[in-house]
Amino acid sequence: MSTLVSLEGVTKVYRLGQVEVPALRGVDLSLEAGDFLALMGPSGSGKSTLLHILGLLDRPTSGRVLWQGEDVSGLRPGRLAELRGRAIGFVFQTFNLVPTLSAQHNVELPLLFQGVRGKERRRRAQELLEQVGLGARRRHRPAQLSGGERQRVAIARALAADPQLILADEPTGNLDSVSGSEILELLAGLNRGGKTVVLVTHDPEAASTARWVLRMRDGRVWEEG
Ligand SMILES: Nc1ncnc2c1ncn2[C@@H]1O[C@H](COP(=O)(O)OP(=O)(O)OP(=O)(O)O)[C@@H](O)[C@H]1O
Ligand SMILES: [Mg+2]
Repeated sequence: MSTLVSLEGVTKVYRLGQVEVPALRGVDLSLEAGDFLALMGPSGSGKSTLLHILGLLDRPTSGRVLWQGEDVSGLRPGRLAELRGRAIGFVFQTFNLVPTLSAQHNVELPLLFQGVRGKERRRRAQELLEQVGLGARRRHRPAQLSGGERQRVAIARALAADPQLILADEPTGNLDSVSGSEILELLAGLNRGGKTVVLVTHDPEAASTARWVLRMRDGRVWEEG
């Protein structure tokens, strides 16, 4: 296996006026291509912060982030955004869909930003919605979909650019257990198809779908025994 992304001695300190909040206190982590990792830990332990750094959405205060062996800590914001758009898909607890757009148009959005032409864009979005079992709901807006369906739209959107890495921050947190299981099964299927997946969850059962589990506490990680 080859290493997709690794963190070396990563710290993150948030500054709120005079107050410093240490969110990560030195994290070393290596994620292989094809991995399925679950991140668990109490509220405030740094899971989302770590996910944002793995996803190149945020920079560490100190330490290095290597993407396929290349140090990306010093990349200009534009280059970082370009890499992120191409290689990483995000799924959030609150779905973060655009309420005024149909499922189809929500999935098309990242493709639009990447300059994919209309016809190809429509075809790809349609295909992705079918892949997540929502071919028949293309014209529905988020408010006209169930929670589980919204999350599936969000997953289709995360897949639009055919990313290597899928980062999901409590994707089942707002779902009933049946819809939640469907979302986990979908993520597991993507992983079997070759995608690298990181899943943040409070739920031990959800974490058990992953291949390995990291625990977080007070900004530090360790591997589950
Ligand atoms: N933008 C921010 N500014 C200041 N402090 C922040 C910011 N984001 C997070 N923090 C702080 O950093 C610490 C880690 O937060 P983080 O969101 O990573 O935790 P988490 O493990 O994801 O928690 P939860 O399970 O509640 O989502 C917390 O103490 C939090 O208050
Ligand atoms: Mg969080």
